[in-house]
Amino acid sequence: MIQVKKGFASDNNSGVHPGILKAMEDANHGHVVGYGNDIYTQKAISIFKEKFGNETEVFFVFNGTGANVLALSTVTHSFNSVICAETAHIQEDECGAPEKFTGCKLLPVETLNGKITPEAIQHHLKGFGFEHHSQPRVISISQVTEMGTVYQPEEINALANLAHKNNMLLHIDGARIANAAVALNLDFKAFTKDCGVDILSFGGTKNGMMMGEAVLFFNSELTSLTKYIRKQSMQLYSKMRFVGAQFIAYFENDLWKETATHANKMAKLLESEIAKFPEIKITQPVNANGIFAIVPRKIIGPLQERFFFYIWNDTAPEVRWMTSFDTTEEDIFEFTALIKELINK
Ligand SMILES: Cc1ncc(COP(=O)(O)O)c(C=O)c1O
Repeated sequence: MIQVKKGFASDNNSGVHPGILKAMEDANHGHVVGYGNDIYTQKAISIFKEKFGNETEVFFVFNGTGANVLALSTVTHSFNSVICAETAHIQEDECGAPEKFTGCKLLPVETLNGKITPEAIQHHLKGFGFEHHSQPRVISISQVTEMGTVYQPEEINALANLAHKNNMLLHIDGARIANAAVALNLDFKAFTKDCGVDILSFGGTKNGMMMGEAVLFFNSELTSLTKYIRKQSMQLYSKMRFVGAQFIAYFENDLWKETATHANKMAKLLESEIAKFPEIKITQPVNANGIFAIVPRKIIGPLQERFFFYIWNDTAPEVRWMTSFDTTEEDIFEFTALIKELINK
């Protein structure tokens, strides 16, 4: 077997939780109808409806970028604009896919911690009804944010109210929605739909699944064209049962909670160990499973050789460390022991 070392680059660098793999294997028998009309997909949809309300419309896709693109393209025309944080995945890390598929202009907002506020986006709320200006249609936020911070329900509610006041919609990129749920100690619905969120990209890959995300629309009037958009944007998986089977296992016995709780706990442990080094400055609150820190430049290269991770901002230099469902206490202690050795060298 090829041995691959663990690192702190991203929670998607981890493998698949054994419970998820087993569910896929269990689903690997016989024939079922393709493209979602199968018992696994239908059961997974019914679980989402139980959690979010019966009127929720659920569309499974392959990946997070696909989920965001499907969410946005369902509710926009090419003359619309989408307001998001400058650090948002849709702005920074999707190779322009949201712009390409929606034709929309993205309006990035500077933030200190990845969170946008009603005040910070006010200057983009203009030009409504004016044909020379792109028409703001969606506010898109990430929960957990790309800076590892978590929106409180009232912050989400304030953005939803502002969006609706302007005939706009609020979308959440929930690639790490499970990490946010355990950080807030709330069920998913309490800080999404109940706060006025209209569309949620619900991720699982970062938290132990192999692949597959769900796009949830809380207003079924929005979705009359979504199935066509999903197919045309190549996100309709023919062997859909394997996405359904993963989500069933993910929710069974609250597996999602176990894995996200563990990842967040490991981030807290890493934070407390890192706090012992006066040479390192943690730059963001550690709300979930990401840590951002300014570190002595000399340790980065040798540290990355043993534990891979990304440099976030080379000027500082600031790095990002992510923990995962399979990070162990030993991984953290080995990592911090090496940091100590490198600092003292
Ligand atoms: C905030 C956020 N959104 C979405 C994604 C999903 O992207 P992908 O298309 O790689 O599954 C990621 C993955 O890094 C992410 O961090």
